[in-house]
Amino acid sequence: MFKKKLFALGLAAVMSVGLFVGCGAKKNEAKENKTLTVYCGLMQDHMIKAAKEFENETGIKVEAVRMSSGEILGRINAEKENPKASVWFGGPADGFINAKEKGLLDAYVSPNAEKIPAMFKDAEGYWTGIYKGYLGFVSNEVLLKERGVEKPQTWEDLLKPEFKGQVVMANPGSSGTAYTTLATVLQLMGEEKGLEYMAKLDKQMKTYTKSGTAPGRMAGQGECMVGITFLHDAIKYKEEGMKDITISAPVEGTGFEIGAVGIIKGAPEMEAAKKFIDWVLTKEAQEIGQTVGSYQFLTNPEASNPEQAKQIEDTKLIDYNFKWAGENRGALVEKWNEAVKK
Ligand code: G6P
Repeated sequence: MFKKKLFALGLAAVMSVGLFVGCGAKKNEAKENKTLTVYCGLMQDHMIKAAKEFENETGIKVEAVRMSSGEILGRINAEKENPKASVWFGGPADGFINAKEKGLLDAYVSPNAEKIPAMFKDAEGYWTGIYKGYLGFVSNEVLLKERGVEKPQTWEDLLKPEFKGQVVMANPGSSGTAYTTLATVLQLMGEEKGLEYMAKLDKQMKTYTKSGTAPGRMAGQGECMVGITFLHDAIKYKEEGMKDITISAPVEGTGFEIGAVGIIKGAPEMEAAKKFIDWVLTKEAQEIGQTVGSYQFLTNPEASNPEQAKQIEDTKLIDYNFKWAGENRGALVEKWNEAVKK
């Protein structure tokens, strides 16, 4: 019955699927112990592999739906009186901080969170970081050559006439990646100048995508010259065969994400949710991503970072203010909407 309801809600990308158990006290008990519903903000192949491993280790079946951060936030807000999912797995911490502010998460300090450095977790346990990803530019080498222009090295470079109609980023309302971009620019330039810049950048845009990974794919396929996205996603696409991809990061500094995990308030499968949080913080679970092309840096100091991440480890980062970005998410997306409307 629960499963039918989820489908009725139009959940599109149901992955590695465990069957829901029906109603009735006994069955609910079974469901609580044996299934776990996850809203997933990281790559789908990563989620599927993690779900399988978790099931092998615990016997708990994971039903996961991939959505972008803004969509997850909207979904758990809409379902707050009757939560359908228990865990939010992956996507930038900004979204989790916003959800905490809105009372949409439950605190859980996992014993395994002790190993995770303080900067990667919420002190009260509303979210815990599992990976770190750097924002940057993904260009198509062939198109750059055709137009005789170098790949962008600064935020200002994106405004060059050669890039007019050739830049793609996601929508900051739906995508955590694009919200990281907006919050980065506003932190670097100040709110007023930053919004002016975003309005100018809007004139360079080919389109805004829903998910944060799409701009990198588009650049890789030659559908645009430059995508703004997380650099580890571009490394994955290049490795998978999009050989024209070339990456760069703004020399003045770029923003980054702490990809997080947290328990949704009133989680219907609370015990399984806690087990999942404990598990994703382990070295073994954190190292799963790199086996399927997710090349973020990891937060558990015992876990080995992917080799592929070495090429971007010297990227200059700004002192990204997660609290400010998270708490002001709604207002800043609204201001961005106004700025790009003009
Ligand atoms: C990809 C990246 C993750 C990131 C996520 C954000 O899956 O590999 O590191 O957290 O995108 O997705 P979104 O669609 O919300 O920008």
